[in-house]
Amino acid sequence: MKRIVILISGRGSNMQAIVQAAAQQQWPAKIAAVISNRPDATGLKFASNADIPTAVIDHRLYADRAAFDTALSELIDTFSPDLVVLAGFLRILTAGFVLHYQGRMLNIHPSLLPSFPGLATHRQALEAGATVHGATVHFVTPDLDHGPIVAQATVPVLENDTESSLALRVLEQEHVIYPLAIRSFLDGHLRLENGRVVQSFIA
Ligand code: GRF
Repeated sequence: MKRIVILISGRGSNMQAIVQAAAQQQWPAKIAAVISNRPDATGLKFASNADIPTAVIDHRLYADRAAFDTALSELIDTFSPDLVVLAGFLRILTAGFVLHYQGRMLNIHPSLLPSFPGLATHRQALEAGATVHGATVHFVTPDLDHGPIVAQATVPVLENDTESSLALRVLEQEHVIYPLAIRSFLDGHLRLENGRVVQSFIA
């Protein structure tokens, strides 16, 4: 049974999609914990209602980024994860932290990377006049929002789109591709090899 730790900072809708897919598809995996850096993250309630252990580690209580990341990885490692899943975890991570989970930490970013890294991706897409937009699942590397790409989904940008209408359309796709990518990793069909993504599919 593989073990997954999911990190969130807020709503946690991606985490919910993952938890639901795991249950419905009977993944050979256990969501070992959902951890938030914000005590008020609404996703925590969903997780505890689903009988998943939850923990809060408040970044504001640590002197600096390195001290927080050390404490966070110590906490994560008490759950012995095979995979760490960043699901709306709004923290820039230190290189040391990222390297500790190299090849076993995934993130979802709400744009078609390498376009529009960082924040306000939907606004960036609208301002650039992009005609397609989307979401990307990638392995996490020390370079923010630049890790090797695992999966992408595209959505059209419509003429009357606002940031929120576009965000909603992208989010629906996030909820599809993130569980798929995680399942693939758990099944041994997805791995990182010499910094490149290697995927194998069963027909
Ligand atoms: C998602 O759009 C995700 O791609 C981004 O932050 C948002 C988190 O949403 N990193 P949720 O907390 O999963 O609902």
